[in-house]
Amino acid sequence: MKILGIETSCDETAAAVVEDGTKVLSNVIASSLDLHKQTGGVVPEVAAREHIRQISPVIDKAMADAKVDWDDIDAIAVTHAPGLVSSLLVGVNTAQTLAYIHKKPLIPVHHVSGHIYANFLDRQINDLQFPIIILTISGGHNELVLMKGHHDFKVIGETLDDAAGEAFDKIARLLNIGFPGGPVISKRAEKGDPKAFDFPRVMLYEKNKSHFTKTSRDKYNFSFSGLKSAVLREVNHLTEGAEPFPRMKDKVINDLCASFQSAVIDVLADKLVMAAEEYKVKSVHLAGGVSANQMLRKTVRERLPKNIELFWPAKMIYCTDNAAMIASSAYFMPGKMKRMKDFTVHSQSPLT
Ligand code: KG4
Ligand code: ZN
Repeated sequence: MKILGIETSCDETAAAVVEDGTKVLSNVIASSLDLHKQTGGVVPEVAAREHIRQISPVIDKAMADAKVDWDDIDAIAVTHAPGLVSSLLVGVNTAQTLAYIHKKPLIPVHHVSGHIYANFLDRQINDLQFPIIILTISGGHNELVLMKGHHDFKVIGETLDDAAGEAFDKIARLLNIGFPGGPVISKRAEKGDPKAFDFPRVMLYEKNKSHFTKTSRDKYNFSFSGLKSAVLREVNHLTEGAEPFPRMKDKVINDLCASFQSAVIDVLADKLVMAAEEYKVKSVHLAGGVSANQMLRKTVRERLPKNIELFWPAKMIYCTDNAAMIASSAYFMPGKMKRMKDFTVHSQSPLT
């Protein structure tokens, strides 16, 4: 079965054709990132305008790259939530129109379930044993998910404020070193000292107090706003409160990046390993833009018991937003071929 996936939830206009949920026949992504670099973040109206410009050529290219025409396509899948409403609308309206014209079933897909299925792309998944624990970490999402079967998700933890990727982006903006923050901070962190600054690890539970370990509501939740404030306080201290901040020395910026990254990773890895052990899973998956982070991958692998397998998306391009993951998620959805004409977009929407 071949599914055309369409993804426009943020600043990537993406279309892909995926066969039987895992074989990527094409994967086309047009990003408006360069426009957003000028503003240090995504401006919704600018992103939506770019989606309108890009959506048709991107879909045409995805079909051409996959060497398919409309007769070969069994269904269309589209991200309908969560994301920027004006961006989501472009993808959903396009998908609804194409489904109507070409008489195809239309499958709405939750963006985070797409990130989860990005780990299934280019992989043989027949021998995968459920349950698995997934850490979904991107600019807008930060969740620990227990997956007991296809599309059987339970969110066991989430962020109380910023997502990890958002924290990377905000700190990069504070340090004035570029956008998006993840790639620039991780690159600088390679040259910095992760122990230079002692930033807080906000665990939200007390490890050594037994009454907290099993029952604390926040045991698997995350909070990065305190860390963000700690970095801001440190920068204020280093620059003696001057406004705007004078440019700091590269060595200091690299140390700040390494120390910040290490604080984020410590929290993510700690909670992920704890959940993997508690739920006795055979494998753990990293998903979403931040799963591209090499130090995170290394740290989780070191801390995870050796008998638990660790996966991240098979290609870097599957970590960040793409449409192949949307087509994959749709393929594994029970009852997917029921025509779903009447659905709309949602900026916020829980996975379960
Ligand atoms: O999944 P994604 O493309 O979009 C959302 O669904 O939000 O994730 C984008 C996020 C950005 O916040 C970006 O800073 C972060 O992923 N990111 C990284 C890395 N590459 C991208 N964060 C840490 N390390 C990286 N190497
Ligand atoms: Zn995403």
